[in-house]
Amino acid sequence: MLSNSIILLILSLQSACLAHVHHHHSTRKIHGQNWHHPSDHQVHQLFGRQATTTNSKAEVFPKVGSKEWKALFPAPFETLTKDAAKPAWIDALNQVKAQGLIPTNVPVGKFNATSGYPEYNGGQLDPKGDVVCSASYFCRGPDDVWDAPEGHVGLSFDDGPLPESSPLLYSFLKSQNQTATHFFIGSNILQNPDLFLEAFDNGDDMACHTWSHPYMTTISDEAVVAELGWLLEIVRVSSGGRIPRYWRPPYGDVSKLEM
Ligand SMILES: *[C@@H]1O[C@H](CO)[C@@H](O)[C@H](O)[C@H]1NC(C)=O
Ligand SMILES: *[C@@H]1O[C@H](CO)[C@@H](O)[C@H](O)[C@H]1NC(C)=O
Repeated sequence: MLSNSIILLILSLQSACLAHVHHHHSTRKIHGQNWHHPSDHQVHQLFGRQATTTNSKAEVFPKVGSKEWKALFPAPFETLTKDAAKPAWIDALNQVKAQGLIPTNVPVGKFNATSGYPEYNGGQLDPKGDVVCSASYFCRGPDDVWDAPEGHVGLSFDDGPLPESSPLLYSFLKSQNQTATHFFIGSNILQNPDLFLEAFDNGDDMACHTWSHPYMTTISDEAVVAELGWLLEIVRVSSGGRIPRYWRPPYGDVSKLEM
């Protein structure tokens, strides 16, 4: 049910902080771009205050980690239903569906705890077929990026920020004069705001690994939007208004329909 074009909200299937090593020089970039959308990108219309000619004051963000800040978000690791998405996000989803940009006939999968994989139509539908092409089964779509190009290294980490591992990772990166791309989980940012700020202040790249880390193909389109939207919102509110442009699906679990 998820395709490559929840365009208003997101992003790219894979991304990384790419270091291009050439002779004695190395350059650092995410696919040649910032980790966040430009400030005039239309995605900003879906978040925060919408500036108008009569109301163009800059949005004021609460202090990261404060009570006011915490009150803005769902509970950590809450299972997000369609009702958790902001109405503007659902409107955007419905618009792109109406425009035929997102497939509407891919069945929502069910997680099979015995096999450890999502199944579609009770296992009747091929997960590597024309209707579903699930990355959990290593089905690759034509536009998926799996490997870094020749001469490039991708340095990226999933699931943080976490008190056991993030400080070790950060101090190692620092000792090597490196930054990295962090595919953070929104719920972990909510619980570890200082560790979010440390990576952000270090100039690392912030990317989306959803709010609660579900198998994406087992939840409704609206819940997908909520999972992506709340991660984007917590990063936005905690980074002075920056909205990440890259997403990595938890477990690599996405499905696609050839349109
Ligand atoms: C789940 O996976 C197991 C093991 O692969 C399989 O035997 C079973 O038929 C699958 N489906 C259901 C609904 O349990
Ligand atoms: C990191 O940068 C510092 C200052 O330029 C330098 O002294 C140090 O050798 C560098 N460390 C590595 C591992 O490259």
